[in-house]
Amino acid sequence: MSFDSSRRDILRNSIAFGVAGLSVAGTMSLPLLGEPLPQQAKESGDKEPEVTATEDLMREHGVIRRALLVYYEVIPKLRQNPASVDAAALQQTAKLFRTFGEDYHERMLEEQHIFPMIRKQGAGLALYADILTQQHQRGREITDYVLAVTNGGKISSLHAEPLARVFETFVLMYQNHAAREDTIVFPAWKKNFTDKQLDEIGDQFEDIEHKMFGKDGFEDAEKEISLIEGRLGFADLAQFTPPAPPKP
Ligand SMILES: [Fe+2]
Ligand SMILES: [Fe+2]
Repeated sequence: MSFDSSRRDILRNSIAFGVAGLSVAGTMSLPLLGEPLPQQAKESGDKEPEVTATEDLMREHGVIRRALLVYYEVIPKLRQNPASVDAAALQQTAKLFRTFGEDYHERMLEEQHIFPMIRKQGAGLALYADILTQQHQRGREITDYVLAVTNGGKISSLHAEPLARVFETFVLMYQNHAAREDTIVFPAWKKNFTDKQLDEIGDQFEDIEHKMFGKDGFEDAEKEISLIEGRLGFADLAQFTPPAPPKP
């Protein structure tokens, strides 16, 4: 996700003028919007485009949601035949939730940077910060529980129904949690900053990510959840397309 500032400025200017790369090319022939200019394409090489601070937070929610979907998908299996559930895959999912979701996204970004700021933006947002923090804490207790009951390689019939219920309530809580953050909390937080400041904060978030994971934490987390989905048979997205609804 590294991105040198000169290229960032070039792209920002291009977007501001509404003509991709006009200032770069120094020519009056106007390229189609969305079509990379030769120089721009050459410069981009293997580098990824800039990720804004809020986009970063929201795509982290994407990885978290995929972990929640793994939990959701195993609920009926836990009830029908707990011995058939791949406990190691659930353990792997809970570890990813801990390192990427709780220790990084929640603790290092939201609790350090987002919530302290929105607490100052009125009673309604301060209440959100309180509830969201309590939900982070409850989630950590739940992850401890998931790690404990999936530790033995198999899920005992004793734990199957309580774990199914924990997954049901946790998935519902976190879907609400992340959706409110995406639509209320992050947009409110973003209003405190200019585009330039947001750029700098995006870089700070990246530094935190690199310090914690040694490299690109998001890419590794995305690969990890893909592997878990593959292992559990959830890789094929088409399987989740529902049948056509009945005729009214
Ligand atoms: Fe959160
Ligand atoms: Fe979040």
